[in-house]
Amino acid sequence: MVYTLITGATGYLGKAFVELCLRRGENVYITGRSEDKLRKLRAQMLQAYPAADIVYFACDLADERSREAMFADAGRYKFSALINVAGADIQKPFCRYNQQKLIFQMRANFEGAVSMCAFCISHAAEHLKIINISSICGQYDMPYFAIYSAAKGALTSFSLALAEELRGSGVDVCVVLPGAIHTRPDVEEYIRTQGLWGKIAAKTPRFVALKALEASERGKRMAIIGAANRALYYLSKLVPARLMRKMIAIKWSRTQKDAF
Ligand SMILES: NC(=O)c1ccc[n+]([C@@H]2O[C@H](COP(=O)([O-])OP(=O)(O)OC[C@H]3O[C@@H](n4cnc5c(N)ncnc54)[C@H](OP(=O)(O)O)[C@@H]3O)[C@@H](O)[C@H]2O)c1
Repeated sequence: MVYTLITGATGYLGKAFVELCLRRGENVYITGRSEDKLRKLRAQMLQAYPAADIVYFACDLADERSREAMFADAGRYKFSALINVAGADIQKPFCRYNQQKLIFQMRANFEGAVSMCAFCISHAAEHLKIINISSICGQYDMPYFAIYSAAKGALTSFSLALAEELRGSGVDVCVVLPGAIHTRPDVEEYIRTQGLWGKIAAKTPRFVALKALEASERGKRMAIIGAANRALYYLSKLVPARLMRKMIAIKWSRTQKDAF
């Protein structure tokens, strides 16, 4: 049996991927930190897709021992797709972090995803499609969101390098850069504060997941989701980096979020 492995399956975007993959008739191996949430998600999906093969395993991707336990379980299967959705978008001034929170955010966003790539490549079916969910934030140096933007930037860079390294090997890598997504209440509140821009640029989890799957199918290596986010990305290249950092600092110092 061949599976699609989805990390962060219990989150808003992860669920959208699970639903779309089941709709496409794929078997899914889903993971998140909470066994209870995974069990409930499986039950919910089985109501809509009674014939689906849904396997779950709870794993903290920020903990290598927890990853080893999952690898021991998942090692029984072959994978035709890996969708690395898990991430932690903690946003606050750097000096308000403690060591534990710093390590968690860096590991959840980067180390966990890289480790999953290595595992799935060594347990790949004939072909493997990897989709890494990064963020448009990874394209900028972002004061007050510095850990997140740096970790997502690293994930983007790693994904593009890996795509080239594995060219022609049967493993395709696509890194996806969404802007804001209509998800948790704290993210919705942030989108609301963006006014007209929020209305134009923010997308639903289903839209982002659909576009990500389409981009991967088309063999794209990087996909910025949404025309407004693409336009801002290219326009921002005309702005000197120092000025850009100053503008970001003013805007992002006004908000904080930590749902983890
Ligand atoms: N929301 C946005 O506006 C936005 C924009 C751009 C990019 N993104 C990226 O999109 C992805 C999904 O975001 P979302 O809004 O759907 O987030 P979410 O609803 O908060 O879900 C996050 C998911 O990641 C999992 N997770 C977090 N830390 C983990 C860890 N250490 N080990 C294993 N799983 C962990 C969570 O599992 P639990 O259920 O156990 O908590 C949950 O399934 C993230 O990578 C995020 O950075 C989001």
